[in-house]
Amino acid sequence: MKIATAKAPSNIAFIKYWGVYDPNLRIPSNSSISMNLDKLHTVTTVEFRKNLRADEITIDGVIDKKNSARVSEHLDRLRNIAGVKTKAIVVSKNNFPRSTGLSSSASGFAALTLAGASSLGLELCQKDLSIIARLGSGSSCRSIPDGFVEWHKGKSHSTSYSESIYPKDYWGIVDIVVIFEEKEKDFPTTESLRNAGTSIFFDKRIRMLGKKTADLKEAIRTKNFRKFGSIVEDEALEMHAVILTQKPSRIYLKPSTISVMNKVRLLRCKGLDVYFTINTGHNIHLICEENKAESVYNIFKNCENVKGIILNRPSVGARLIQNHLF
Ligand code: DP6
Repeated sequence: MKIATAKAPSNIAFIKYWGVYDPNLRIPSNSSISMNLDKLHTVTTVEFRKNLRADEITIDGVIDKKNSARVSEHLDRLRNIAGVKTKAIVVSKNNFPRSTGLSSSASGFAALTLAGASSLGLELCQKDLSIIARLGSGSSCRSIPDGFVEWHKGKSHSTSYSESIYPKDYWGIVDIVVIFEEKEKDFPTTESLRNAGTSIFFDKRIRMLGKKTADLKEAIRTKNFRKFGSIVEDEALEMHAVILTQKPSRIYLKPSTISVMNKVRLLRCKGLDVYFTINTGHNIHLICEENKAESVYNIFKNCENVKGIILNRPSVGARLIQNHLF
């Protein structure tokens, strides 16, 4: 079996994945839409070796039991497809802090799926790769195809997958990530998103999402940035309204996150078209068009408590590369 290395981008959801229809198969309650990010990525090298007694997994230089178990489970899925029991060496590197709301599980499981499948000699199409990646982490299925991506929720294992709706160069949208903390978030996403249905707002949200998703797609199709931005911002707040009111309730927003949200709104009043979105970390994503990127970047880079700022453009999806990590 050969050594294989894949590089996969993280992605930012414009319509969020929050709630599961089938937790075992990670079939979501709703379809979601995202953009791959060119400056946040995971590189993973996998080699299945006959003489190994157990998988040997190193992530960002650390061997960690909890993360290793989730990776091994994912390797089992690939081993089952290939009909082998061979263990593997996996080395994975993120170029950004993990578990801080920057979707390292998205890039991580997309890279692991592609590198693992290639190392086993499995010839899988993009749709099948996204279906397998989904089982490791839902949002990772959106990091397999290129550019702007839709994850069709589907109703079964084989119908819940992602596909590209536009290539990366379709629209010059920029995602400026403002990092406040490099510490891991307080509550893991997997557990929280499984409780989404306990919020009094959840059913209503699901009923309204079809129209919102269609409106967002129309805004992308017509490149109507204001319409697009206002839906994106509304969607992030709606997801957090569910998170705040689900049981147990969770608060992922920090004072620094909220101060940036307010600043974004103030800037809009002054005529600068910038919108925010946020996942389950307190780091915040600022969305604007290419011609506003420099202004937005310069305004936020020196704000209080900012530890880092990363300017992302749309990216291709997961790719095999030749620079192996061992
Ligand atoms: C808030 O894909 O990390 O970022 O399927 O349990 O691994 P698991 O969850 P994950 O959840 C991502 C949730 C989100 C919204 C989104 O990216 O759509």
